[in-house]
Amino acid sequence: MIVGVPKEIKTEEYRVAITPSGVHSLVEHGHRVVIESGAGLGSGITDDMYRREGAEIVDTHEEVFQRADMILKVKEPLPPEYELLREGQVVFTYFHFAASRELTEAMLRRKIVAVAYETVEQADGSLPLLIPMSEVAGRMAPQEGAKYIERPQGGMGILLGGVPGVPPAKVLIIGGGTVGTNAAKIALGMGADVTIMDINPVRLRYLSEIFPSVKTMMSTPYNVRECVKQADMVILAVLIHGARAPKLITRDMLREMKEGAIIVDVAIDQGGSAETSRPTTHRDPVYTEEGVVHYCVANMPGAVPRTSTFALTNVTLPYALELADKGWQRAVQENPELARGVNMVHGHLTYKAVAEAFDLPYTPLEQVLRA
Ligand SMILES: NC(=O)c1ccc[n+]([C@@H]2O[C@H](COP(=O)([O-])OP(=O)(O)OC[C@H]3O[C@@H](n4cnc5c(N)ncnc54)[C@H](O)[C@@H]3O)[C@@H](O)[C@H]2O)c1
Repeated sequence: MIVGVPKEIKTEEYRVAITPSGVHSLVEHGHRVVIESGAGLGSGITDDMYRREGAEIVDTHEEVFQRADMILKVKEPLPPEYELLREGQVVFTYFHFAASRELTEAMLRRKIVAVAYETVEQADGSLPLLIPMSEVAGRMAPQEGAKYIERPQGGMGILLGGVPGVPPAKVLIIGGGTVGTNAAKIALGMGADVTIMDINPVRLRYLSEIFPSVKTMMSTPYNVRECVKQADMVILAVLIHGARAPKLITRDMLREMKEGAIIVDVAIDQGGSAETSRPTTHRDPVYTEEGVVHYCVANMPGAVPRTSTFALTNVTLPYALELADKGWQRAVQENPELARGVNMVHGHLTYKAVAEAFDLPYTPLEQVLRA
């Protein structure tokens, strides 16, 4: 199979869908890998590093799409890429279809086989291709928050760890899943006074076990309101699978917060958990509402591509290899995790939640496979 890897064209997206090690594995399995020149530079990977492992480097975006049987990407195709996609071409990337009717309809028209990273799902309901990016975003959250709570950046001007004789900053993390746990680890390492809230008592028990110095609390509207008043930094890290993020912090709660406190709303990619959150970019990451700084970057891992590219491809490569080795039909028949990743096939929407989100016809994958 010819596997194509284009350069990402989304603004400030520096990740790439394959590393030299991934090229090595695909070539060893008998596949050809066609990569657009410069695709890896944002992640510190040169064309020569790919070439040494057997990749063919091509000059244009178009050539990658023309030649590949399967495209590996990081972000969803953007409008200039729509016309480059061919019927039956397998595209393995983050799509997040439910967030865009335009993208969904465009991909249905192109009749591609869309395998979405975000819906590849293991038997226990975990999402293996989302976890590494949550780990990155979680670890970045206190780091970014610490920077933007500095006075010259508009924050109150407090050092997370304090110093002997001066207490540390109070960090409240709401949502103790992958993002929250990783945020806690870094905030603790920086010396902050950390509280984590969740609605799941089992999760709180686990967190209290692994982080004895962290305070845990049940997430209720009352507890949230009381704790945000005390917090210097609030990290919002909740997720309700398949739904928009719940609004846990209202504008009137902000008015009771400390002047110059910061909210890092990691859940902004699901709509955000503060009423006042709106997406920002790495170029212009913060704004202030009611005296509280908001950091709401929707693609946090994009800022650290030298970590994120490797973290992402570590987990995508085994699935990419399986798709390439077996062809998509056999791969999804033999691996239910991959089957759950299939969102559309030849113009049929095979992922129920996306069909429901836009009131479009749904065709079960098994029906498409039988036809
Ligand atoms: N901005 C970015 O760049 C970026 C990157 C990665 C992930 N994310 C987002 O971060 C969020 C968290 O992701 P995750 O991987 O940690 O999810 P997760 O499923 O591992 O954890 C979510 C946690 O939220 C808890 N929760 C649900 N409702 C709650 C409530 N009302 N109060 C407190 N806790 C509640 C759940 O019990 C769970 O423990 C998601 O919205 C995800 O899309 C954003």
